[in-house]
Amino acid sequence: MALIDHERRVAQPAPTRRYYVDLAATKPGTPGGKFLRQFWMPVFDGDALPVGQAKPIRIMGENFAIYRGQSGAPQVIAYRCPHRGAQMHLGWIEGDEIRCVYHGWKYDGTGQCTEMPAEEPGYEKKVRIATYPTREHMGLIFAYFGKGEPPSFPPFPEPDAEGVIELRPAINVPCNYLQCFENSMDEVHVAFTHAPGGSHSKIAQDLPIISADETDWGMIRYGRRKDGQVRHTLHYAPNIVRVVVPPLAGMDGVGGWPEIFLCFVPVDDENCIWFATSKVYVTGKEADAYWAKRAEFQKKAAQAPKVKDVVDDLWAGKLVYDDVRHPLLARVQDIAVQAGQGRIADRENEFLGRSDAGIVAWRRILARELRLFAEGRPTKKWKTPPADVVPVMGA
Ligand code: FES
Ligand SMILES: [Fe+2]
Repeated sequence: MALIDHERRVAQPAPTRRYYVDLAATKPGTPGGKFLRQFWMPVFDGDALPVGQAKPIRIMGENFAIYRGQSGAPQVIAYRCPHRGAQMHLGWIEGDEIRCVYHGWKYDGTGQCTEMPAEEPGYEKKVRIATYPTREHMGLIFAYFGKGEPPSFPPFPEPDAEGVIELRPAINVPCNYLQCFENSMDEVHVAFTHAPGGSHSKIAQDLPIISADETDWGMIRYGRRKDGQVRHTLHYAPNIVRVVVPPLAGMDGVGGWPEIFLCFVPVDDENCIWFATSKVYVTGKEADAYWAKRAEFQKKAAQAPKVKDVVDDLWAGKLVYDDVRHPLLARVQDIAVQAGQGRIADRENEFLGRSDAGIVAWRRILARELRLFAEGRPTKKWKTPPADVVPVMGA
């Protein structure tokens, strides 16, 4: 019997890896969608939403409208007016309320309809538009799309005596969010993907041995170098990396090693947005020098070709990888490899190695949680990350 089993086994083709759940799913109702909706999501750059304006947004496969009332408070609401389905972002902002441009129904910040110009007075009390808890922090507007009360807010830094907070403009990336989050666990790629241009040469001298531990709030990942130094990177569930990175390209060292908060937010299953903010440890004159350098840099970046156009030229073979020079070179490089894996990476036909230990660790956590959601069983109660656990460059 044992022999037959053995023969059967050797006769089988090499097993492909199967996760039994769609790890990349983001839509409502899917296990992946339910998992993601337990957390606050950044949805818009704060400075791209002036007072009195509304915009359409698409997050995790659903459309919404976001507006900023006269008090300055942003609010995320349903995409369509409950009356006859006009798009709410076309609406007029009146105080902190928004009025639909189709027949003038007006809604307050709680979603309650407060005016229906062509209806009997009192009828408006029957109608409410969906609203979502919304708050602004570090220059980003966050919303919560899950059931019940939102969880407490993660310990993102405030601008304080130690330094400044800088928002980087959000960028649309044409692939599923998970391969970007996985890339944040792939410290080895830095030595290769970012070698041209040399922006990361300091940490590319030796390759780290990667390990990772699950925590109450996500995962902490270690990259051990030959000299014994260990880099600690934090991965907040479900899609945020907190990491200390080398001085930014073109800054001539001004600003030192900032801490980056990078959030990979699903637009739908095949697109995501990178929202990035950083805490830069500069104060006083050094802070002034930092902002001046950044302004110079932003000017250059604005004049450069669009990142996605450069990536398209790389994908089409019109540009040679080593030859690309761009103020946002690391972004070009990252998007070229990550979105180059396809809109949704094929995780069942990969050949993982020990350097993928961080990715494997996160997939185990994610697959476990998604299976629990699929089976309707209790899932992990995620905690708020503690403020005193911070990423370190080497210890
Ligand atoms: S569709 Fe909005 S008021 Fe009629
Ligand atoms: Fe990278």
